[in-house]
Amino acid sequence: MEKLRETWGSNIGFILAATGSAIGLGNIWKFPYITGDYGGGAFVLVYLACVLMIGLPLMVAELIIGRRAQKNPVKAFEKNHRAKSPWQLTGWLGMASGFIILSFYSVIAGWAMAYIFKSIRGFAGTSEQIQQQFVDLVLSPSGSIMWHTIFMVLVIGIVAGGIKGGIERWSKILMPALFMLLLGLMLHGLFNTTGGIAALNFLFAPDFSRLTAEAVLSALGHAFFTLSLGMGAMITYGSYMKKGSGIVKDAIIISFLDTFIALMAGVAIFSLVFHYGMEPGQSVGLIFKTLPVLFADTGPWVSVPFFILLTFAALTSGISLLEVVVVYFIDEKGWSRVKITLLAGGLVYIFGLLSAIATLTIPFRGSDQTFLDVFDFMTTNYMLPLGGLFTCLFIGWVMKEDDMAEEFGSRGMLLKLLRLALRYLTPIGIAMVLLHGLELLPFMDY
Ligand code: PFF
Repeated sequence: MEKLRETWGSNIGFILAATGSAIGLGNIWKFPYITGDYGGGAFVLVYLACVLMIGLPLMVAELIIGRRAQKNPVKAFEKNHRAKSPWQLTGWLGMASGFIILSFYSVIAGWAMAYIFKSIRGFAGTSEQIQQQFVDLVLSPSGSIMWHTIFMVLVIGIVAGGIKGGIERWSKILMPALFMLLLGLMLHGLFNTTGGIAALNFLFAPDFSRLTAEAVLSALGHAFFTLSLGMGAMITYGSYMKKGSGIVKDAIIISFLDTFIALMAGVAIFSLVFHYGMEPGQSVGLIFKTLPVLFADTGPWVSVPFFILLTFAALTSGISLLEVVVVYFIDEKGWSRVKITLLAGGLVYIFGLLSAIATLTIPFRGSDQTFLDVFDFMTTNYMLPLGGLFTCLFIGWVMKEDDMAEEFGSRGMLLKLLRLALRYLTPIGIAMVLLHGLELLPFMDY
Protein backbone atom coordinates (compact mmCIF):
# COMPACT_ATOMS: atom_id res chain seq x y z
CA MET A 1 0.00 0.00 0.00
CA GLU A 2 1.23 3.48 -0.78
CA LYS A 3 2.30 5.50 2.23
CA LEU A 4 0.01 8.43 2.97
CA ARG A 5 1.63 11.58 1.65
CA GLU A 6 2.26 14.50 3.96
CA THR A 7 0.16 17.66 3.58
CA TRP A 8 0.35 21.17 4.97
CA GLY A 9 -1.29 21.58 8.37
CA SER A 10 -3.27 24.62 7.22
CA ASN A 11 -3.65 26.86 4.20
CA ILE A 12 -1.99 29.73 5.99
CA GLY A 13 0.92 27.39 6.72
CA PHE A 14 1.19 26.69 3.00
CA ILE A 15 1.05 30.38 2.13
CA LEU A 16 3.76 31.23 4.63
CA ALA A 17 6.00 28.42 3.35
CA ALA A 18 5.49 29.36 -0.30
CA THR A 19 5.98 33.04 0.46
CA GLY A 20 9.07 32.02 2.39
CA SER A 21 10.39 30.27 -0.70
CA ALA A 22 9.68 33.30 -2.85
CA ILE A 23 11.08 35.90 -0.46
CA GLY A 24 14.80 35.43 -0.29
CA LEU A 25 18.13 36.89 -1.27
CA GLY A 26 16.40 37.82 -4.51
CA ASN A 27 14.21 40.33 -2.69
CA ILE A 28 16.58 41.86 -0.17
CA TRP A 29 19.95 41.53 -1.90
CA LYS A 30 19.28 41.43 -5.64
CA PHE A 31 16.14 43.50 -6.23
CA PRO A 32 17.48 46.68 -4.59
CA TYR A 33 20.80 46.55 -6.39
CA ILE A 34 19.41 45.86 -9.85
CA THR A 35 16.78 48.55 -9.31
CA GLY A 36 19.62 50.88 -8.36
CA ASP A 37 21.60 49.93 -11.45
CA TYR A 38 18.68 50.31 -13.85
CA GLY A 39 17.62 53.69 -12.52
CA GLY A 40 14.61 53.06 -10.24
CA GLY A 41 10.92 53.76 -10.92
CA ALA A 42 10.61 52.73 -14.56
CA PHE A 43 12.40 49.47 -13.86
CA VAL A 44 10.10 48.82 -10.89
CA LEU A 45 7.06 49.38 -13.08
CA VAL A 46 8.25 46.95 -15.73
CA TYR A 47 9.09 44.45 -13.04
CA LEU A 48 5.56 44.73 -11.62
CA ALA A 49 4.14 44.14 -15.09
CA CYS A 50 6.32 41.04 -15.47
CA VAL A 51 5.17 39.65 -12.15
CA LEU A 52 1.57 40.19 -13.16
CA MET A 53 1.70 38.96 -16.75
CA ILE A 54 4.36 36.25 -16.63
CA GLY A 55 4.98 35.34 -13.01
CA LEU A 56 1.45 35.04 -11.76
CA PRO A 57 0.14 32.78 -14.57
CA LEU A 58 3.16 30.54 -14.21
CA MET A 59 2.74 30.29 -10.47
CA VAL A 60 -0.88 29.27 -10.90
CA ALA A 61 0.28 26.71 -13.48
CA GLU A 62 2.89 25.19 -11.17
CA LEU A 63 0.49 24.97 -8.24
CA ILE A 64 -2.14 23.32 -10.44
CA ILE A 65 0.33 20.76 -11.79
CA GLY A 66 1.57 19.95 -8.28
CA ARG A 67 -1.74 19.75 -6.50
CA ARG A 68 -3.39 17.70 -9.22
CA ALA A 69 -0.62 15.11 -9.22
CA GLN A 70 0.22 15.12 -5.48
CA LYS A 71 3.69 14.12 -6.59
CA ASN A 72 7.25 15.38 -6.99
CA PRO A 73 7.99 17.49 -10.10
CA VAL A 74 9.29 14.56 -12.18
CA LYS A 75 6.24 12.36 -11.58
CA ALA A 76 3.86 15.32 -11.65
CA PHE A 77 4.43 15.80 -15.39
CA GLU A 78 3.84 12.09 -16.01
CA LYS A 79 0.68 12.00 -13.92
CA ASN A 80 -0.77 14.97 -15.73
CA HIS A 81 0.10 13.48 -19.13
CA ARG A 82 1.05 9.81 -19.46
CA ALA A 83 3.63 7.30 -18.25
CA LYS A 84 7.13 7.91 -19.66
CA SER A 85 6.07 11.35 -20.84
CA PRO A 86 9.05 13.30 -22.18
CA TRP A 87 7.77 16.30 -20.23
CA GLN A 88 9.15 14.69 -17.08
CA LEU A 89 12.52 16.04 -18.22
CA THR A 90 11.22 19.40 -16.98
CA GLY A 91 11.10 17.90 -13.51
CA TRP A 92 14.66 16.60 -13.79
CA LEU A 93 15.82 19.97 -15.00
CA GLY A 94 14.13 21.54 -11.97
CA MET A 95 15.91 19.17 -9.60
CA ALA A 96 19.23 20.01 -11.19
CA SER A 97 18.46 23.74 -10.91
CA GLY A 98 17.52 23.38 -7.24
CA PHE A 99 20.75 21.53 -6.54
CA ILE A 100 22.94 24.10 -8.26
CA ILE A 101 21.11 27.18 -6.94
CA LEU A 102 21.25 25.97 -3.35
CA SER A 103 24.98 25.28 -3.67
CA PHE A 104 25.81 28.94 -4.29
CA TYR A 105 22.82 30.45 -2.51
CA SER A 106 24.17 28.93 0.69
CA VAL A 107 27.48 30.74 0.24
CA ILE A 108 25.80 34.15 -0.08
CA ALA A 109 23.49 33.33 2.84
CA GLY A 110 26.63 32.42 4.79
CA TRP A 111 28.03 35.91 4.16
CA ALA A 112 24.77 37.34 5.55
CA MET A 113 25.25 35.29 8.72
CA ALA A 114 28.86 36.37 9.00
CA TYR A 115 27.67 39.97 8.77
CA ILE A 116 25.31 39.53 11.73
CA PHE A 117 28.39 39.00 13.86
CA LYS A 118 30.41 41.70 12.16
CA SER A 119 27.50 44.06 12.86
CA ILE A 120 27.41 43.17 16.54
CA ARG A 121 31.10 44.05 16.76
CA GLY A 122 30.38 47.20 14.77
CA PHE A 123 31.90 48.58 11.58
CA ALA A 124 34.76 50.99 12.07
CA GLY A 125 37.53 52.54 10.01
CA THR A 126 37.62 54.28 6.68
CA SER A 127 35.14 53.41 3.98
CA GLU A 128 37.88 51.50 2.12
CA GLN A 129 38.70 49.46 5.20
CA ILE A 130 35.05 48.55 5.76
CA GLN A 131 34.59 47.53 2.14
CA GLN A 132 37.81 45.54 2.30
CA GLN A 133 36.30 43.39 5.09
CA PHE A 134 33.93 41.93 2.54
CA VAL A 135 36.67 41.20 0.04
CA ASP A 136 38.61 39.51 2.83
CA LEU A 137 35.63 37.36 3.80
CA VAL A 138 34.99 36.29 0.23
CA LEU A 139 38.62 35.56 -0.48
CA SER A 140 39.24 33.66 2.73
CA PRO A 141 38.09 30.14 1.89
CA SER A 142 37.94 29.16 5.55
CA GLY A 143 35.56 32.02 6.39
CA SER A 144 33.19 31.38 3.50
CA ILE A 145 33.33 27.61 4.02
CA MET A 146 32.57 27.85 7.72
CA TRP A 147 29.43 29.95 7.14
CA HIS A 148 28.39 27.84 4.16
CA THR A 149 28.63 24.81 6.45
CA ILE A 150 26.50 26.40 9.16
CA PHE A 151 23.83 27.50 6.70
CA MET A 152 23.60 24.05 5.09
CA VAL A 153 23.31 22.40 8.50
CA LEU A 154 20.34 24.65 9.31
CA VAL A 155 18.67 23.94 5.96
CA ILE A 156 19.19 20.19 6.31
CA GLY A 157 17.90 20.28 9.90
CA ILE A 158 14.65 22.00 8.90
CA VAL A 159 13.97 19.87 5.80
CA ALA A 160 14.66 16.69 7.75
CA GLY A 161 11.83 17.72 10.09
CA GLY A 162 9.29 17.18 7.28
CA ILE A 163 6.53 19.29 5.80
CA LYS A 164 4.45 20.12 8.87
CA GLY A 165 7.10 19.61 11.52
CA GLY A 166 9.97 21.28 9.65
CA ILE A 167 9.19 23.54 6.70
CA GLU A 168 5.76 24.77 7.81
CA ARG A 169 6.69 25.13 11.44
CA TRP A 170 9.79 27.20 10.73
CA SER A 171 8.12 29.30 8.06
CA LYS A 172 5.46 30.24 10.60
CA ILE A 173 8.16 31.54 12.92
CA LEU A 174 10.63 33.05 10.46
CA MET A 175 8.23 34.83 8.10
CA PRO A 176 6.40 36.98 10.67
CA ALA A 177 9.77 37.75 12.29
CA LEU A 178 11.15 38.79 8.91
CA PHE A 179 8.17 41.03 8.29
CA MET A 180 8.47 42.77 11.65
CA LEU A 181 12.20 43.35 11.23
CA LEU A 182 11.71 44.78 7.77
CA LEU A 183 8.82 46.94 8.89
CA GLY A 184 11.01 48.40 11.61
CA LEU A 185 13.82 49.10 9.15
CA MET A 186 11.49 50.67 6.62
CA LEU A 187 9.92 52.95 9.21
CA HIS A 188 13.40 53.85 10.39
CA GLY A 189 14.32 54.75 6.81
CA LEU A 190 11.16 56.76 6.25
CA PHE A 191 11.04 58.70 9.50
CA ASN A 192 14.50 58.67 11.07
CA THR A 193 16.56 59.55 8.03
CA THR A 194 16.45 62.42 5.59
CA GLY A 195 16.44 60.00 2.63
CA GLY A 196 12.87 58.66 2.92
CA ILE A 197 11.24 60.93 0.36
CA ALA A 198 14.13 60.56 -2.07
CA ALA A 199 13.85 56.78 -1.75
CA LEU A 200 10.11 56.83 -2.48
CA ASN A 201 10.71 59.09 -5.46
CA PHE A 202 13.48 56.90 -6.76
CA LEU A 203 11.36 53.75 -6.51
CA PHE A 204 7.98 55.05 -7.57
CA ALA A 205 8.47 58.01 -9.91
CA PRO A 206 9.29 56.40 -13.25
CA ASP A 207 11.83 58.03 -15.54
CA PHE A 208 11.36 56.16 -18.79
CA SER A 209 14.36 57.74 -20.44
CA ARG A 210 16.52 55.44 -18.33
CA LEU A 211 14.74 52.28 -19.36
CA THR A 212 16.71 50.05 -21.71
CA ALA A 213 15.82 46.77 -23.41
CA GLU A 214 18.42 45.17 -21.16
CA ALA A 215 16.53 46.45 -18.10
CA VAL A 216 13.25 45.00 -19.35
CA LEU A 217 14.79 41.58 -19.84
CA SER A 218 16.44 41.69 -16.44
CA ALA A 219 13.09 42.57 -14.86
CA LEU A 220 11.58 39.53 -16.52
CA GLY A 221 14.41 37.23 -15.47
CA HIS A 222 14.23 38.53 -11.95
CA ALA A 223 10.45 38.01 -11.75
CA PHE A 224 11.19 34.35 -12.30
CA PHE A 225 13.90 33.99 -9.77
CA THR A 226 12.15 35.95 -7.06
CA LEU A 227 8.90 33.99 -7.35
CA SER A 228 10.79 30.67 -7.22
CA LEU A 229 9.46 29.66 -10.63
CA GLY A 230 10.80 27.38 -13.31
CA MET A 231 12.34 24.71 -11.11
CA GLY A 232 9.46 22.84 -9.56
CA ALA A 233 9.51 24.51 -6.14
CA MET A 234 5.90 25.62 -6.49
CA ILE A 235 4.96 22.26 -8.03
CA THR A 236 6.43 20.61 -4.95
CA TYR A 237 4.79 22.93 -2.46
CA GLY A 238 1.51 22.66 -4.40
CA SER A 239 1.69 18.88 -4.18
CA TYR A 240 1.27 19.08 -0.41
CA MET A 241 -1.86 21.25 -0.70
CA LYS A 242 -5.23 19.86 0.16
CA LYS A 243 -7.87 19.96 -2.56
CA GLY A 244 -10.37 22.72 -2.42
CA SER A 245 -8.41 25.86 -1.55
CA GLY A 246 -8.40 28.60 -4.16
CA ILE A 247 -5.17 28.32 -6.13
CA VAL A 248 -5.56 31.66 -7.90
CA LYS A 249 -6.21 33.51 -4.68
CA ASP A 250 -3.19 31.84 -3.07
CA ALA A 251 -0.93 32.65 -6.02
CA ILE A 252 -2.03 36.28 -5.91
CA ILE A 253 -1.29 36.50 -2.19
CA ILE A 254 2.16 34.92 -2.58
CA SER A 255 3.14 37.14 -5.53
CA PHE A 256 1.80 40.22 -3.80
CA LEU A 257 3.69 39.56 -0.56
CA ASP A 258 6.88 38.81 -2.47
CA THR A 259 6.64 42.07 -4.37
CA PHE A 260 5.63 44.06 -1.32
CA ILE A 261 8.62 42.81 0.67
CA ALA A 262 11.01 43.64 -2.17
CA LEU A 263 9.63 47.19 -2.29
CA MET A 264 9.83 47.53 1.49
CA ALA A 265 13.46 46.43 1.35
CA GLY A 266 14.01 48.98 -1.41
CA VAL A 267 12.59 51.78 0.73
CA ALA A 268 14.60 50.71 3.80
CA ILE A 269 17.87 50.51 1.87
CA PHE A 270 17.56 53.53 -0.42
CA SER A 271 16.49 55.83 2.44
CA LEU A 272 19.86 55.13 4.00
CA VAL A 273 21.70 55.43 0.70
CA PHE A 274 20.17 58.86 0.02
CA HIS A 275 20.50 60.00 3.62
CA TYR A 276 24.25 59.63 3.27
CA GLY A 277 24.30 61.21 -0.16
CA MET A 278 25.40 58.07 -2.00
CA GLU A 279 24.54 57.07 -5.55
CA PRO A 280 21.88 54.33 -5.84
CA GLY A 281 23.72 52.38 -8.56
CA GLN A 282 26.14 50.43 -6.36
CA SER A 283 25.78 47.09 -8.16
CA VAL A 284 26.44 43.77 -6.47
CA GLY A 285 28.31 45.49 -3.66
CA LEU A 286 25.25 47.39 -2.41
CA ILE A 287 24.47 45.14 0.55
CA PHE A 288 27.84 43.84 1.66
CA LYS A 289 30.06 46.79 0.77
CA THR A 290 28.10 50.04 0.60
CA LEU A 291 25.61 49.46 3.41
CA PRO A 292 28.22 48.48 6.01
CA VAL A 293 29.93 51.82 5.42
CA LEU A 294 26.64 53.53 6.28
CA PHE A 295 26.03 51.11 9.17
CA ALA A 296 29.25 52.37 10.77
CA ASP A 297 27.25 55.51 11.45
CA THR A 298 23.79 54.08 12.22
CA GLY A 299 25.18 51.51 14.64
CA PRO A 300 24.20 47.91 15.33
CA TRP A 301 20.53 48.75 15.98
CA VAL A 302 20.03 48.98 12.26
CA SER A 303 22.66 46.59 10.92
CA VAL A 304 22.04 43.58 13.17
CA PRO A 305 18.28 43.35 12.36
CA PHE A 306 19.12 43.87 8.71
CA PHE A 307 21.45 40.90 8.43
CA ILE A 308 19.21 38.71 10.60
CA LEU A 309 16.41 39.53 8.20
CA LEU A 310 18.56 38.63 5.22
CA THR A 311 19.48 35.31 6.85
CA PHE A 312 15.86 34.43 7.64
CA ALA A 313 14.85 35.25 4.09
CA ALA A 314 17.61 33.02 2.70
CA LEU A 315 16.76 30.17 5.05
CA THR A 316 13.11 29.82 4.04
CA SER A 317 14.18 29.85 0.37
CA GLY A 318 17.03 27.42 0.94
CA ILE A 319 14.69 24.83 2.42
CA SER A 320 12.43 24.93 -0.63
CA LEU A 321 15.44 24.41 -2.89
CA LEU A 322 16.49 21.31 -0.98
CA GLU A 323 12.92 20.01 -0.74
CA VAL A 324 12.68 19.87 -4.54
CA VAL A 325 15.70 17.58 -4.68
CA VAL A 326 14.59 15.46 -1.72
CA VAL A 327 10.91 14.89 -2.54
CA TYR A 328 11.61 12.75 -5.61
CA PHE A 329 13.50 10.14 -3.62
CA ILE A 330 10.89 10.05 -0.86
CA ASP A 331 8.01 9.62 -3.34
CA GLU A 332 9.63 7.28 -5.82
CA LYS A 333 12.22 5.32 -3.92
CA GLY A 334 10.51 5.26 -0.54
CA TRP A 335 13.70 6.48 1.19
CA SER A 336 13.35 7.90 4.66
CA ARG A 337 13.21 11.69 4.72
CA VAL A 338 16.07 12.02 7.16
CA LYS A 339 18.36 9.75 5.15
CA ILE A 340 17.81 11.41 1.78
CA THR A 341 17.89 14.92 3.25
CA LEU A 342 21.28 14.22 4.78
CA LEU A 343 22.56 12.66 1.59
CA ALA A 344 21.25 15.30 -0.85
CA GLY A 345 22.12 18.14 1.51
CA GLY A 346 25.61 16.70 1.95
CA LEU A 347 26.13 16.53 -1.81
CA VAL A 348 24.89 20.09 -2.28
CA TYR A 349 27.25 21.13 0.47
CA ILE A 350 30.26 19.51 -1.19
CA PHE A 351 29.34 20.95 -4.58
CA GLY A 352 28.91 24.35 -2.90
CA LEU A 353 32.57 24.33 -1.90
CA LEU A 354 33.33 25.27 -5.49
CA SER A 355 31.41 28.51 -4.97
CA ALA A 356 32.74 29.06 -1.46
CA ILE A 357 36.33 29.11 -2.69
CA ALA A 358 36.34 32.38 -4.58
CA THR A 359 39.95 31.96 -5.64
CA LEU A 360 38.86 29.12 -7.94
CA THR A 361 37.89 30.50 -11.32
CA ILE A 362 36.94 29.17 -14.73
CA PRO A 363 36.91 30.82 -18.12
CA PHE A 364 33.31 31.74 -18.98
CA ARG A 365 31.93 34.12 -21.56
CA GLY A 366 35.28 35.63 -22.33
CA SER A 367 36.73 36.13 -18.85
CA ASP A 368 37.82 34.23 -15.74
CA GLN A 369 34.88 34.02 -13.36
CA THR A 370 34.13 32.45 -10.00
CA PHE A 371 31.97 29.34 -9.89
CA LEU A 372 29.40 31.30 -7.91
CA ASP A 373 28.98 33.85 -10.71
CA VAL A 374 28.88 31.17 -13.39
CA PHE A 375 26.26 29.09 -11.56
CA ASP A 376 24.17 32.17 -10.78
CA PHE A 377 24.28 33.24 -14.42
CA MET A 378 23.52 29.78 -15.79
CA THR A 379 20.58 29.08 -13.53
CA THR A 380 18.96 32.53 -13.69
CA ASN A 381 19.43 33.03 -17.40
CA TYR A 382 19.15 29.54 -18.84
CA MET A 383 17.89 26.85 -16.51
CA LEU A 384 14.98 28.59 -14.75
CA PRO A 385 13.60 30.20 -17.92
CA LEU A 386 13.86 26.86 -19.75
CA GLY A 387 12.03 25.11 -16.91
CA GLY A 388 9.39 27.83 -16.91
CA LEU A 389 9.00 27.67 -20.68
CA PHE A 390 8.41 23.91 -20.65
CA THR A 391 6.01 24.27 -17.73
CA CYS A 392 3.74 26.79 -19.39
CA LEU A 393 3.86 25.03 -22.76
CA PHE A 394 2.92 21.83 -20.96
CA ILE A 395 -0.07 23.25 -19.16
CA GLY A 396 -1.15 25.45 -22.08
CA TRP A 397 -0.88 22.87 -24.86
CA VAL A 398 -0.57 19.38 -23.38
CA MET A 399 -2.54 19.11 -20.15
CA LYS A 400 -6.25 18.51 -20.65
CA GLU A 401 -8.34 21.63 -20.24
CA ASP A 402 -10.81 19.68 -18.10
CA ASP A 403 -8.11 18.64 -15.65
CA MET A 404 -6.90 22.17 -15.42
CA ALA A 405 -10.42 23.52 -14.93
CA GLU A 406 -11.04 21.07 -12.13
CA GLU A 407 -8.08 22.32 -10.12
CA PHE A 408 -8.75 25.88 -11.10
CA GLY A 409 -12.24 25.65 -9.65
CA SER A 410 -14.23 27.45 -12.32
CA ARG A 411 -14.63 27.63 -16.08
CA GLY A 412 -15.28 31.30 -16.55
CA MET A 413 -13.48 34.12 -18.22
CA LEU A 414 -10.54 33.92 -15.82
CA LEU A 415 -9.64 30.40 -16.88
CA LYS A 416 -9.82 31.41 -20.56
CA LEU A 417 -7.51 34.34 -19.89
CA LEU A 418 -5.08 32.18 -17.97
CA ARG A 419 -4.96 29.60 -20.75
CA LEU A 420 -4.38 32.31 -23.29
CA ALA A 421 -1.55 33.77 -21.23
CA LEU A 422 0.05 30.36 -20.75
CA ARG A 423 -0.22 29.47 -24.41
CA TYR A 424 1.16 32.67 -25.90
CA LEU A 425 2.14 35.56 -23.67
CA THR A 426 4.18 33.74 -21.05
CA PRO A 427 6.14 31.49 -23.45
CA ILE A 428 7.00 34.42 -25.70
CA GLY A 429 8.18 36.50 -22.73
CA ILE A 430 10.30 33.65 -21.42
CA ALA A 431 11.70 32.81 -24.84
CA MET A 432 12.95 36.39 -25.05
CA VAL A 433 14.80 36.09 -21.75
CA LEU A 434 16.36 32.86 -22.97
CA LEU A 435 17.44 34.28 -26.29
CA HIS A 436 18.86 37.27 -24.48
CA GLY A 437 20.83 34.96 -22.19
CA LEU A 438 22.26 33.35 -25.31
CA GLU A 439 22.93 36.80 -26.80
CA LEU A 440 20.71 35.97 -29.75
CA LEU A 441 18.06 38.70 -29.63
CA PRO A 442 18.14 40.51 -32.96
CA PHE A 443 17.36 44.00 -31.62
CA MET A 444 20.05 44.00 -28.91
CA ASP A 445 23.72 44.94 -29.19
CA TYR A 446 25.98 42.24 -27.78
N1 PFF B 1 12.93 33.07 -4.70
C1 PFF B 1 14.22 33.02 -4.07
C2 PFF B 1 14.75 34.43 -3.91
O1 PFF B 1 14.12 35.39 -4.37
O2 PFF B 1 15.81 34.58 -3.32
C3 PFF B 1 15.19 32.17 -4.80
C4 PFF B 1 14.66 30.83 -5.22
C5 PFF B 1 14.19 29.97 -4.24
C6 PFF B 1 14.58 30.49 -6.54
C7 PFF B 1 13.63 28.76 -4.59
C8 PFF B 1 14.02 29.30 -6.93
C9 PFF B 1 13.54 28.46 -5.94
F1 PFF B 1 12.99 27.34 -6.28
